[in-house]
Formats: sequence, structure tokens, C-alpha cells
Amino acid sequence: MTKSNQTDNHEALDRKRHLFDEVNRLKVYHPGLEKAQERIKRCHLFSSKNAEPMCLSIVGMTGVGKSTVKETYAAKYPRSSQGAVEHVPILYATVPEGPTPKTLVETLLRALGDGAYDKGSTVTKTSRLVMSLAACGVELILLDEFHHFADRNQPKLMYRVADWLKVLIAETHIPVVLFGLESCLDVFKHNEQLARRFSARFALNPFDWDDDQSRKDFRGFLKTVAKKLPFRRVPLFHERELAFRLYVASGGCLGYLMRIIRGAALGAIEDGRDAVDEADVERAYVEEVWDAELQPANPFSKEFDVVKAEKDREHQKARERFIRKATAPSPDRASARAALRGRRAA
Ligand SMILES: Nc1ncnc2c1ncn2[C@@H]1O[C@H](COP(=O)(O)OP(=O)(O)OP(=O)(O)O)[C@@H](O)[C@H]1O
Ligand SMILES: [Mg+2]
Repeated sequence: MTKSNQTDNHEALDRKRHLFDEVNRLKVYHPGLEKAQERIKRCHLFSSKNAEPMCLSIVGMTGVGKSTVKETYAAKYPRSSQGAVEHVPILYATVPEGPTPKTLVETLLRALGDGAYDKGSTVTKTSRLVMSLAACGVELILLDEFHHFADRNQPKLMYRVADWLKVLIAETHIPVVLFGLESCLDVFKHNEQLARRFSARFALNPFDWDDDQSRKDFRGFLKTVAKKLPFRRVPLFHERELAFRLYVASGGCLGYLMRIIRGAALGAIEDGRDAVDEADVERAYVEEVWDAELQPANPFSKEFDVVKAEKDREHQKARERFIRKATAPSPDRASARAALRGRRAA
């Protein structure tokens, strides 16, 4: 291959990567996202230093868009430098697996940009965190993957971590928004004081085909996605029949839906086509999402009769299967964690 051919290939690959990045960054402002933003905004802007801060927990199954809510809100209040001090209006971080007060304070210090986040005792680090939060002007803390607080094998430790968070809120008066799976509600069962501070909840749910408004929202989401995709032509995702197939394929859950749509877009990008077609959608579903055990019928196949499927309530069965799958305890991860702890203790 000549040098100029190689350059051409690199350029073509760069163009394709760039296009796929655009697809990956695509975001749709659907009602669930908007409502969650409103709830966060209320905690953020109406918490007063003279009263208990207004905290909130945003709960939902995997893939419903919790982290997207967090990132969207945080992006509205970017960090800025004021002389030597960085102004950080919103501090956001992800709770590590099996958190302890030590790992949690380190996570927050690191998110604040403290290069010496691992130096000192937990007490010293906590004092440093309290001072840094004030110095950086932090107005709101967003904590993702809060369900990591709910480790059933370590109830005492988990209580201590929850208590550490409660004290941090009491000392700083900064409102905190937690994001996590339903299992994070278990933490509140074991720590009444923390539960009271997070009694305000917002549930982010998958779309529901049987609910008129939610079905409209789902189809509205699909219409906007199609408009935003950087192609000359894309299937009419929002048209009732294709929307129904996409619903059955994803259970109304954004994580699965976007995997299918991104996969379909990638197929067209790889082929150098400026159009996505329904065959791309079916292929993406089969490659990225289909689990024959979970989903007996391929909703994009010719044999799939939409009218009969809707009558047989296949959409509801699909939704329930996805929810069950998402909320089932994962024995592999639990036993992996137990094994790790065993190794650490040895
Ligand atoms: N409003 C949206 N517009 C476009 N894509 C979205 C939107 N919300 C979520 N997604 C996509 O769906 C996928 C899952 O979203 P996200 O990671 O926010 O879910 P999650 O609830 O945090 O999941 P998990 O519990 O597994 O962390 C991501 O690929 C994300 O880009
Ligand atoms: Mg997430």
C-alpha cells in the first residue's frame, strides 16, 4: 500500500470515528430527564445555609438514564478558575464499590482536584474536605452509584459510611443528590437519620407502552433521535409499528434502545453509507441486545406479527423481563466481592 493510500485510509477512519462520536454524544431531552433536572434544581437553588439542605435520591433500574441526568445537570455549571482557587459549583463523583469512609473521602477529594487526596488519616482528610468544599464554593454534591452503600455482607461498615455522609451534610449544609439502583433504598432502612434527609425521591422509570402519555413520550424520543442522527436518511423510528418493535426490543429502557440505535448507525458508518435502514436496526439488535432466553421472538423479524404481539401483550412481557433482569441480584459479582474480601482478610 502506498503512503498516500495509507493517509487516505487514516483520514477515512478518522471521519468515521468522528461521526460515530457524534452519534454517541447525541442526547434527547425527554420528560423524565427534564423532570429530574427540575427536582435537582430545586435542591440546588433553594437549599439555605440556615436550614437543613434539601437532599434528593434519584432511583431507577440500570440503563434508565440516571448518570445522563447527573452529567446533564453538572454540565450547566462548569468549573472555573478564580486566581489560585478553582470554583467548583457542582461536585460530582461515583461511589466506589464496597465504600468505606476512607475511600469515600478520598473519592470526593480527588473529584475536587486535591492531588494529595490519599494523604493523612480519615479524620484529617475529612476536615480538609470540609474546608475545600467551602473554599471551592461547592453548592451541590452529586453522588452516582449510591447502591454501593448497600452491601448486605457488611452491615456495620455500611452503617458507618452512611453515617459519615450524614455528618458531612450536617457540617457543610451542602445539598446532596444520590443516584442509584433501587437497592440503595436498603441503606435508608438501616439508617433512619440518613433516610429522613433523603426522604425526597424521584423514580426514573423505563417508558411504558400501556400508558398513553409514556407511549407518546417514547415515540417523541424516537422522533428526536431520528432528527439528530447525522445521516441523510434514517428509518421512521417513531411510526407506530417500528416504535412498537423497538419497544419490545428494549423494554422501553433507554440503555438498550440506544445500544440498538447506535449499533445501527455504526453499521452504516462502517459501510460508508449516508443512510441507516431497518436491516441495520435488526442486525444491531441481534448483535448488541438479543438474548434468546430472555426474548424468545426477534421483534424485527418478518414473522413477528405486530398486531398479534400487541394483543398478546408481548410489550408488557418484554418490559417485565428487562426489569427482572436488571434487578436480579448478580451472584457472580457478589461472590467475586466476597472472594476479594476473603483474600484481603487472609
Ligand atoms: N436522554 C438521553 N438521550 C440519549 N441517550 C441517553 C439518554 N439517557 C440515557 N441515554 C443513553 O442510555 C444509556 C444508559 O444511560 P445511563 O448510563 O445514564 O443510565 P444509568 O441509569 O446511569 O445506568 P446504570 O445504572 O447502569 O449506571 C447510555 O448509553 C446513555 O448514553
Ligand atoms: Mg449510571
